[in-house]
Amino acid sequence: MKNIYLETYGCQMNEYDSELVRSILTASQYQFVPSIDLAQIVLMNTCAVRENAHQKIYHRLDELKGMKKRGEIEVVGVLGCMAQSLRKTLAERSPTVDVVAGPDSYKKLPNLLTAVYENNNHGFDFALSEFETYADITPKRIAGINAWVAIMRGCDNFCTFCVVPYTRGRERSRSVESVLNEAYRIESEGFKQVTILGQNVNSYHSGDDDFADLMHTLATKSNIPRIRFTSPHPKDFPRKLLHVIAENPSLCKQIHLPLQAGNNTVLKRMNRTYTKEEFYDLVDEIRMIIPGVALTTDIIVGFSGESDADFEDTFDVMEKVRFDSAFIFKYSERKNTIASRKFADDVPEAAKTERIVRLNDLQRQISKEINQTEIGKKVEVLIEHRSKKDANEWLGRTDQNKGVVFAATGKNPGDFVTVEITSATTNTLIGRAVNVVPKSSNILSLSR
Ligand code: 5AD
Ligand code: SF4
Repeated sequence: MKNIYLETYGCQMNEYDSELVRSILTASQYQFVPSIDLAQIVLMNTCAVRENAHQKIYHRLDELKGMKKRGEIEVVGVLGCMAQSLRKTLAERSPTVDVVAGPDSYKKLPNLLTAVYENNNHGFDFALSEFETYADITPKRIAGINAWVAIMRGCDNFCTFCVVPYTRGRERSRSVESVLNEAYRIESEGFKQVTILGQNVNSYHSGDDDFADLMHTLATKSNIPRIRFTSPHPKDFPRKLLHVIAENPSLCKQIHLPLQAGNNTVLKRMNRTYTKEEFYDLVDEIRMIIPGVALTTDIIVGFSGESDADFEDTFDVMEKVRFDSAFIFKYSERKNTIASRKFADDVPEAAKTERIVRLNDLQRQISKEINQTEIGKKVEVLIEHRSKKDANEWLGRTDQNKGVVFAATGKNPGDFVTVEITSATTNTLIGRAVNVVPKSSNILSLSR
């Protein structure tokens, strides 16, 4: 029996895929170990979305090359999006890299490793599938508070900057039944929060059911206390879903809505197929139907052809919408994408840097102001773990997905506790636990 050390880079979908990989290889007489020192095989589940993700892996491969030479490890495998997009380049890196497997090739991993160990060969596979959803694999989750479920794979949107349609292939959805069964399992295993994953969850469909139907089914049939999802696309955000969220307490009042840019010409070149006016309308509708909802976003600065004036439009939309938080990235040209074939990566690095700094400054200010409006409120917090800064404090999250730090009480991770917010920073709310008022007496006191 060989020991595997698995490293996961990138998004939550990769975290989930790593659980699938653990499940597939554990069933095939491999065992996973928590430290590289105990392993003969090192697998890296990689990301390709920006160049710095690639650089990180190349750097790691150099380290692994040394370990292999010294006989400390035997086999190195690269899995996931970078494996899919750089298959030839990685294959040329042999003998350092023995196994290369794309996101639809995980069921073949036992065979690929056999090829290496028994036939002294390489194990390379990067066939993308139109059907593979791994619905028949039970992910091997690490016990805790949070679980993930991928309800669909792939993306057919072809935003011009994005490599995902090339690394993860065409869109395909799992059945409602298989998602629901996984939710039941998650519930019975004691997880308190599940995040529903898809590259573009709005495109989910199974028989007559769309994404809003699926979320309604999950909220009403499972007893998981908190259900989140990521990511929807602003172009076809299902309005029905807003009502489903508003009416079901287990569906968290938090929506990640990637804007990418606030200028219509740039949005068009990105092939996002919405305008900033349509985005404003969607935000208004979301806030009207789900009062108190937290909105977060992704922004790319310095996309091909983005002028100073175009960037000012993005700045302006960020100022007007006031997201609770934002992930802001510099445009990074990706091989094979439509943008790499049609447009030049022509915004100078210095301009990208200036824009990202300005937007981050603005967003930090807004996040802090929004967080400070929470002071004095009592919020329900799901405890996750001890705070990294102070072991006498818990770190938990609100329904809106805001981190809350408070003095550790007799509670445990996985417990819900009411916390009164006493101060707030850009990224964190700070408070103290207060006695929980049962919901029924709350209603009584309100009606009196
Ligand atoms: N360059 C920079 N950021 C990118 N993203 C996707 N592709 C690129 C790219 N080529 C960002 C988008 C997306 C997030 C996951 O990563 O903002 O929403
Ligand atoms: Fe990439 Fe656009 Fe698909 Fe998101 S919706 S994965 S940004 S192509």
